[in-house]
Order: sequence, then C-alpha cells, then structure tokens
Amino acid sequence: MIHKLSNAVITNLINHLRDSETESLRFRQIVQQLARLLAYEAFGILHLEEKKINTWLGESSFSFIQEEELMFIPILRAGLPMLDPLIEMFPKAQSGFLAMARDETTHKAVLYYDKVPECQGKTVVLLDPMLATGGSLADAIEFVKKHDPKKIISLNIIAAPEGLEAIEKAHSDIDLFIAQIDERLNEQKFIIPGLGDAGDRSYNTTG
Ligand code: PRP
Repeated sequence: MIHKLSNAVITNLINHLRDSETESLRFRQIVQQLARLLAYEAFGILHLEEKKINTWLGESSFSFIQEEELMFIPILRAGLPMLDPLIEMFPKAQSGFLAMARDETTHKAVLYYDKVPECQGKTVVLLDPMLATGGSLADAIEFVKKHDPKKIISLNIIAAPEGLEAIEKAHSDIDLFIAQIDERLNEQKFIIPGLGDAGDRSYNTTG
C-alpha cells in the first residue's frame, strides 16, 4: 500500500534538495530531517506494546514501539544518510545494508554488497530517497522477503509514478511511505524534475 505524505514542511525541504546550490552537508541534513518525518508517519501503523515501567508515581503500563523488532536497511549510497536519525530514535533497532547501483545502459539495479542480519520476526524498514523505475527497491524487497521478515516498510523521499506503479504491482503487500511524487521519468530513467543523483549530491562525488 502506498501512503503519500502531504505537508508544507516536507514540500519546503524537498524543494531545497532540488536546488543545485544546496551543498552536500545541507543536502544530507535535509535527507535526515525527511527520514524522521517519514518515520513519524510510517510508524503510526506499527503495533504498540503495553509495558509496565516504574514511574515517579509508581509502577504503571504505557505503550511503546517494539524497537527490538525494527531493522533499518539503507540502500547505499543514497539511502545512507537516512539511517542515523532513525537509529538515534530507536537505539535498540538493528541495521542491515544493501548496496545497489543502476547500470547506466540497462537502467537495471545491480546488487554489489549485502550485510543483512536474520530478518525473522522483524519489521524491516528499507531506506532510499529515490524511487525511479522501482527496480532497486523491487530487488531489495525480493532480497528481504527471502529472509522471511514479519513486515516490510519502505521510506522514500521522491518517486516517479512509473516506479510506484511497478512496486504496487509486484509488492502490494508492503507499506511504502513517500514524501513527494514527481511528474515522470525521462528517457535516461531520471526522475523529472527530481533532484539529480542523490548519492553523488550527498557525498560530493561528481567531478
Ligand atoms: C539511485 C537511487 C535508488 C535508485 C533508484 O541510486 O538512490 O537506489 O537509483 O532508481 P530505480 O528506481 O530506477 O532503481 P544509484 O543507482 O544512482 O546509486 P547511488 O545511491 O550510489 O547514487
């Protein structure tokens, strides 16, 4: 299921990402802020657990997110800045890593590194700012599904309608939270208007 976020703060932050003058430190900071905003929205669908804790008024029950069940998996490189804000918020969560790059000619994703812990019983949260054709995310979902998680959530910042459609078709059982749906893909499969290559912009790699 696709969940589209809509608020002025998100729009404002995304439009700063589109600005070529936004340098890499600020770019990563905005990606981190957007990751937090996506998580606030997405984790509303999680089951809360009642736990007894000691408070200044004595023992009482309160609800908590089961953070030990969370596993964050950024899709490198561009997804990497989204990880820190989330593990700061949920320090008991686990992290895994998938590194993918799109082949420039075929536009298909190639997995070149993976390090993912045991996923059984986990809510796996995939992190990638960009969803263009949806190929990288679809491959990441297939990879994770083979490890039998309890649930898969994807947090993405900008998507092309084509990519969302592809994910909805292939993996309608996951929950995808998207901050901005742009117009379309161009012939090179870049998101229009988009923001360029998020991995390069995050880490000043071009040139
Ligand atoms: C970008 C982006 C996604 C993918 C989206 O990564 O971060 O992972 O492309 O495209 P798709 O939906 O068509 O698969 P890229 O391959 O540029 O690698 P990078 O993160 O190292 O920049």
